[in-house]
Amino acid sequence: MTKPHIPLDEIRAQVEGCRKCPLADGRTQTVFGVGNPEARVMIIGEAPGKNEDLQGEPFVGAAGKYLNELLAVAGLVREDVFIANVLKCRPPGNRDPRPEEIELCTPYLREQTRTIDPEFIVTLGNFSTKFILKTDIGITRLHGTVQRAGKFKVFPIFHPAAALYDGSKRVVLEDDFATLGELLRQSAQAAGAADAAQPAQGAHAAQDGSAPESAASAGQATAQVARRQPSTPTSNRPSPTTSRSTFCSDALSQKKTTVRRAETIALPILHVALIY
Ligand code: URA
Repeated sequence: MTKPHIPLDEIRAQVEGCRKCPLADGRTQTVFGVGNPEARVMIIGEAPGKNEDLQGEPFVGAAGKYLNELLAVAGLVREDVFIANVLKCRPPGNRDPRPEEIELCTPYLREQTRTIDPEFIVTLGNFSTKFILKTDIGITRLHGTVQRAGKFKVFPIFHPAAALYDGSKRVVLEDDFATLGELLRQSAQAAGAADAAQPAQGAHAAQDGSAPESAASAGQATAQVARRQPSTPTSNRPSPTTSRSTFCSDALSQKKTTVRRAETIALPILHVALIY
C-alpha cells in the first residue's frame, strides 16, 4: 500500500520545530522552500546561505537572482516552480553540508517531493544531485542529461553560484536551462497528443493488456538523454544581466536557434535511484 502524502503545511511545521542536529542552534529561521505546490518542476539546491537564513526563503541572494534569469531561459518564472534545498538550516560560514546533516534533514525533502509530485526534479550542483540520484558521479558528467529517481525525471544542472566564481559556467548553465525548457515543451506536447488519442489507446490497451511504462522498467531501459552540443557562441547569447522582460523574450527567440542544434544521444542508465 502506498503511503499517503503529507500536506505541505504539515511538513513545514515539522521543519520549523526541528532540532535534530546542531544547525538548529545557529539558524535565524528554517528555510522550508517556496513556490507552486503543484509545480511540474522542483528545483533542489544545497543549503540556505546568509540571506536565505535571514529571509526564510531559498535563493534570494546573488545566486538566486541568477537562478531567476536562468528560469527565464527555460520559459519559467519563479512562481511556476517549487524551490527547496537539501538542508533546511544554514551551515555556519556556508560550509558544505555534512553527511549526518543530510541524513537527518532529507526526510523532509523526500516528503516535500512526494507531496508536490513534480514531473522534473532539477538538482543544482553536486550535493542535491548525489543525494537524489544516490550516485558518486559528479555534476560535471551528469549535467544536462535526463536521469530517473523512481517515477521522477531528474535533470542535473551546475549550481548557479558556480557561475558567480567561474564565468565560463554561464554558457553551460544557460544551455542546460534552455534544454530544460525544450524538455518541458516536448513533454507537454506528448501529453496533449496522448490525451487527444485517449479513446483509441484505451481500447488498444484493454485488448492487448499493455500498460504505461513503470518507473522500474524505465530504470532498466536506456535513458534518452538530451545533451546539448557544446557552447553556442556567447556573442549571440542574451546577457543574463539585462532586465528580465527583455532578457526573457530574447531568451525565448534565442532558444529556437539553439535548440535546433541540440542533439539527442543515448547513455546507459547509470543507476536506479531508490529514494522515492
Ligand atoms: N544556495 C543554495 O543551494 N540554496 C539557497 O537557498 C541559496 C544558495
